[in-house]
Amino acid sequence: MTDYLTGFGGMHETEAVAGALPIGRNSPQRPAFGLYAEQLSGSAFTMPRSENRRSWLYRMRPTADHPPYEAYRGNQMVGAKGSDKPLAPNRLRWDPPELPVGNDFVDGLVTMLATRDPADLEGVALHCYRADVSMTHRSFMSADGELLFLPQRGALHLFTEMGRLDVPPGHIAIVPRGVRFRVEVPEGGAGGYVAENYGAPFRLPDLGPIGANGLANPRDFETPAAAFEDVEGDHELIQKNGGHLWAATIDRSPLDVVAWHGNYAPCRYDLTRFNTLGTVSFDHPDPSIFTVLTSPSDVPGRANADFVIFPPRWMVAEDTFRPPWFHRNVMSEAMGLIHGEYDAKADGFTPGGLSLHNVMSGHGPDVETWRKASEAELQPHKIDGTLAFMVETCWPYKPTDFALQRAQHDYDEAWQGFPKAKVPDAD
Ligand SMILES: [Fe+2]
Repeated sequence: MTDYLTGFGGMHETEAVAGALPIGRNSPQRPAFGLYAEQLSGSAFTMPRSENRRSWLYRMRPTADHPPYEAYRGNQMVGAKGSDKPLAPNRLRWDPPELPVGNDFVDGLVTMLATRDPADLEGVALHCYRADVSMTHRSFMSADGELLFLPQRGALHLFTEMGRLDVPPGHIAIVPRGVRFRVEVPEGGAGGYVAENYGAPFRLPDLGPIGANGLANPRDFETPAAAFEDVEGDHELIQKNGGHLWAATIDRSPLDVVAWHGNYAPCRYDLTRFNTLGTVSFDHPDPSIFTVLTSPSDVPGRANADFVIFPPRWMVAEDTFRPPWFHRNVMSEAMGLIHGEYDAKADGFTPGGLSLHNVMSGHGPDVETWRKASEAELQPHKIDGTLAFMVETCWPYKPTDFALQRAQHDYDEAWQGFPKAKVPDAD
């Protein structure tokens, strides 16, 4: 059974064994039971209190006890940079990528889209994964970025240093930069997406005139209660640093944190709890109205990464074309589909697939969707049975060579054949 603490980004404290958590002192010389006190900082020590993220972990042995890391000999497809070739300003789309079979999460993770170098401390990458078996006797951590999990097929069970998270499709999970975890696949196989955020940690967006409630509400984020394992024997630590994977073997499980407190911790969120807002008069709000989480950049209002969903919702506006409008955008948009159909595309965008509309590329509904929507009676209409998402960023995405080789060849045809408008002669 998994226990959760509720609330987003707040201070939590939890102990798997009564008495393990010290009261009043972060780092006593002698923690209970001989535990080791270790601070995990997700922000510079001197960040303002509102931005400061850190947790104190009380563990059976210190993380520092490990031999030198060496280059990992397994998966070489995660952390790949974007293709070096000049990228034509074309829209791109992918069927669900065929990823190598029979791997666990670490070896089944493939980078599709990249932006900045992790050392820039800005940017976001989008990976796809196929995990057919659970990770055993090994664990993973990214020192490059925060990981946003989006399972599409099969539940994930994330056993992190700070507790256990059950993450079925339709949920997301966030594992902060530097938090170690193992991925189990209780249903025997899983696939989906992971966004890796190199920039400021994801947070809830400000709500402005919306008010104090709405969109993703803080109380619906669930952080795991402390849970640990006491397992001796070889354990492979795999770590992503600087876009490369590194490995070292220790003599125990590193998931040995008996108690912790702080505001730097993994969490999960059920996307059906998102309080979708929209127009009740005319026109669409901008898609930012669907923002679940945002990673700000140094420029006010310009996101390093926005995580946005298009969930089931009612469309009730008057005099309004119901699908998303045609648009071009200075931001770059990567989209995926968890289940169902996305309302702007008649076909070609299937669950597990991906699309990319980079900076200023023209896009919107395809011809068939436009025609149907133009002829439809405008009455209240529910978009149901669907869940699409977008990771939008101010940094143009670069597909990796792996992705470029697998892009659909005919995506541009989605917008071919619009009839010319019949405009009378100018007066
Ligand atoms: Fe768009």
